[in-house]
Amino acid sequence: MAPPVVAVVGGGQLARMLAEAASPLGIHLRVLAAAGDEGAREVVPDVVVGDPDDPAAIAALAAGVDVVTFDHENVDLAALESLEAAGVPVRPPVATLRCSDKAHQRRTFAAAGLPVPPFVVLDGGADDVAAARAFAEAHTSGDDRVVVKASRGGYDGRGVWMLGGAELEEFVAGWTGAPLVLEPELPLIAEYAVLVARRPSGELATWPVLRTVQVDGMCDEVALPSGLAPDVERAAIDLAGRVAEVSGAVGVLAVELFLVGGGGPAPELVVNEIAPRVHNSGHLTSDACATSQFEQHLRAVLDWPLGPTDAVVGAATMVNVVGGDGGDPRERQAVALEAVPEAHVHLYGKTPRPGRKIGHVTVTGDDVAVTGRRARRAADLLAGSD
Ligand SMILES: Nc1ncnc2c1ncn2[C@@H]1O[C@H](COP(=O)(O)OP(=O)(O)O)[C@@H](O)[C@H]1O
Ligand SMILES: [Mg+2]
Repeated sequence: MAPPVVAVVGGGQLARMLAEAASPLGIHLRVLAAAGDEGAREVVPDVVVGDPDDPAAIAALAAGVDVVTFDHENVDLAALESLEAAGVPVRPPVATLRCSDKAHQRRTFAAAGLPVPPFVVLDGGADDVAAARAFAEAHTSGDDRVVVKASRGGYDGRGVWMLGGAELEEFVAGWTGAPLVLEPELPLIAEYAVLVARRPSGELATWPVLRTVQVDGMCDEVALPSGLAPDVERAAIDLAGRVAEVSGAVGVLAVELFLVGGGGPAPELVVNEIAPRVHNSGHLTSDACATSQFEQHLRAVLDWPLGPTDAVVGAATMVNVVGGDGGDPRERQAVALEAVPEAHVHLYGKTPRPGRKIGHVTVTGDDVAVTGRRARRAADLLAGSD
């Protein structure tokens, strides 16, 4: 029997980790990688080099495969619609990928009654500055800032600005890009991510809630358990399941949640954003859960039975390794493993550049305070920033 073939649009580290999960399952992975995309190239032999915005490249990728999936969302949706119309399974479907647009996502989720921050979308009209001013007046007070988000093309905090007063109006007046989403800067108690896998039939599997820590808008650290009270943990999992249904996701979906304090009698969970794919916040599932997000994504998009998602350890922490002035983390690997022998090191084979994610480390154990310290130590040694 010929192996099932999964085509992945994108050749970064997420495609690389999908390939690492595909191998033991006997799945053949083919990736569409932009020239210079480094993550997956070292481990995936079947590479189509091309631009995800080029319909010819998408067609070459999809020829003869069982399913087309993604490691990022910046894709030509018209080309994918043609594939869908031709009967090629595109998972997640184009309708879900449209939800990657933060304006469309907010409107869709608000219309479905999901809890989202107050927001307004600025579509590039002549009254945008007045609308921004009115929104700031209605939703902020004193020196509070407004969070401005580009609806498309942002990631790791690029495309998110916190602005107040005249700065906000100048920014909006000078903006010429995709529509903007404005929301108040919320009093966050903490941030969480819930990873959900969904089969085409709608069957769901949800991992335990993860606590995430962002630095300068970029995910820095992820921890398990979440530390949430059991009823709040349950509510977060239920909310993520509803988000998966509303967005029509197939495969893994990451749901970023804010726990917001202030104002009301009790803290409130609101949906920040989704990523309709495997996600940085779920990397620790590879070392800490019964089924990793990468294996589960492949199973879900192939419409195979899903695996159990329980934690198999009492605690785990993942810390990203971010490029800086320290050169290549491979040169320091032995030093890091000497200091933290239990570290699960995942390097992406990418050229280090300041601010670029080049790997991550997960440490598992019984106590999240200990796993946090150990993972941080290993990541600092790998990054050369200790
Ligand atoms: N309304 C908000 N109030 C407070 N902090 C926010 C708000 N929106 C975003 N942030 C902070 O900025 C980070 C990045 O924003 P997000 O919309 O998730 O963008 P990205 O697509 O870059 O991940 C969030 O994880 C959070 O730390
Ligand atoms: Mg985010």
